[in-house]
Amino acid sequence: MSSVDRSSRPLSRRQVLAGGGGLAALAVLTACNPRTSAAAPGSTAAAPGAPVRSATLTPQVTRLDLGGPVVDTWAFGDSLPGPLLRGTTGDVLRVEVANQLSTGTTVHWHGLPVPNDMDGVPDVTQPEIEPGASFTYEFTLTEPGTHWYHSHVGVQRDRGLYGPLIIDDPQEPGGYDVDWVIVLDDWIDGTGTTPEQVLAGFESGGNAAALTSPRLGGTAGDVAYPYYLLNGRVPGAPVSFTAKAGQKARIRLINAGGDTTFRVALGGHQMTVTQTDGYPVVPVTVDTLLISMGERYDVEVTLADGVFPLVAAAEGKTGQALGIVRTGSGATPAADAHPSELDGKLLAYADLHAAAGAELPQRNPDVSYDLVLEGSMKPYRWTINGHAHPDDQPLPVSQGQYVRLRCVNRSTMYHPMHLHGHTVALRASDSDATGPRKDTVIVLPGQTVVTDLLADNPGQWVTHCHNIYHEAVGMMTRLSYQT
Ligand code: C2O
Ligand code: CU
Repeated sequence: MSSVDRSSRPLSRRQVLAGGGGLAALAVLTACNPRTSAAAPGSTAAAPGAPVRSATLTPQVTRLDLGGPVVDTWAFGDSLPGPLLRGTTGDVLRVEVANQLSTGTTVHWHGLPVPNDMDGVPDVTQPEIEPGASFTYEFTLTEPGTHWYHSHVGVQRDRGLYGPLIIDDPQEPGGYDVDWVIVLDDWIDGTGTTPEQVLAGFESGGNAAALTSPRLGGTAGDVAYPYYLLNGRVPGAPVSFTAKAGQKARIRLINAGGDTTFRVALGGHQMTVTQTDGYPVVPVTVDTLLISMGERYDVEVTLADGVFPLVAAAEGKTGQALGIVRTGSGATPAADAHPSELDGKLLAYADLHAAAGAELPQRNPDVSYDLVLEGSMKPYRWTINGHAHPDDQPLPVSQGQYVRLRCVNRSTMYHPMHLHGHTVALRASDSDATGPRKDTVIVLPGQTVVTDLLADNPGQWVTHCHNIYHEAVGMMTRLSYQT
């Protein structure tokens, strides 16, 4: 769909796994039934004979080595990130979640227009999966791209309950020599403080860390995390990604953090952005980009010869996550490596345009809603249109309507706003027909961000801030299909 060079060479499984960067890959997926036909895009019913990809996720208490620091936490099995789930469009994904925690949980499939009862939002789309109980999620993989999954209960996501979900597109021949999945996170659990204690501290009037960034229009976050992780590792013990000089890499970036936007750069390289939130954009080449909580970017890089730091600096905070890209000999970059690209040309939303065929056609909205974002630290309260979920005021829509959502940020902090079950088009103006498709959009303080969507997936769909502490106190409302 995009005009990126998609030359002939198909990506082999071996190449995908080479230098895989420490993810527990593929082993959990078992396919049965040969494909006979693909499901129609957007359809929720599996095509007859569609391959079924089965996996089990086990939320559990576990001890993890982050590459030095050893933490007691909650994760899917004993890997961080959780296992890589990967399939092809048209496949059915069937995931049994066997809850071994002593509290309830759910799993949400961030970025996927699943049937509403598979969306994993407690009390909105399903009851929590009780301790010792299991729930099986099953849906057809319709949207190719870089997505992820995570717990949707309380602040569990700020522990280790997240993992990557990649959907390959058989129509996209590839042309990449290597394909790397990179999950970024901010980490506090098991270091003497749990995320629940962080939240309780805010709710009892505790101070936020004083963190600011002009790139985020003011406050950069409220939590100074002790560690920032790339694929579950601290920068003192980074994972390596290996390839040959001259090869073309597709790098898939996912921000699973709770309260941290990362500024990402690869030393010695520019990055060509080819997708955001799974959808193709007209390729744009930059030195660095900001990726906020819940967002994804796919970038393409032609690799130089040597050893290079892949840095995700915690924007407005002290610290960074690090990975190492190796195509030749050279010294390993230091944990605090700061490639000059981090201060170079920064991707702006205005640089992003939906690739041909990926645009959301323009129409006059049938219905338009403002989502006024407000909040304060004392008392700790974050609201949409003056209400906090579950006392939110749902926004009624009907199937087939063209819906405009205007996020109006009246607070002094940025909010990465996420919508379930749909992918919006970001509109720079009323005549902007080429806005990128996204499901998570940064709204800066004082800014109004306009997005359009087609109401094509009936149900009750939450929209919320992807800052885990804002979300946990109810910075969330619902698009509510009327039947
Ligand atoms: Cu990634 Cu409602 O969340
Ligand atoms: Cu927020």
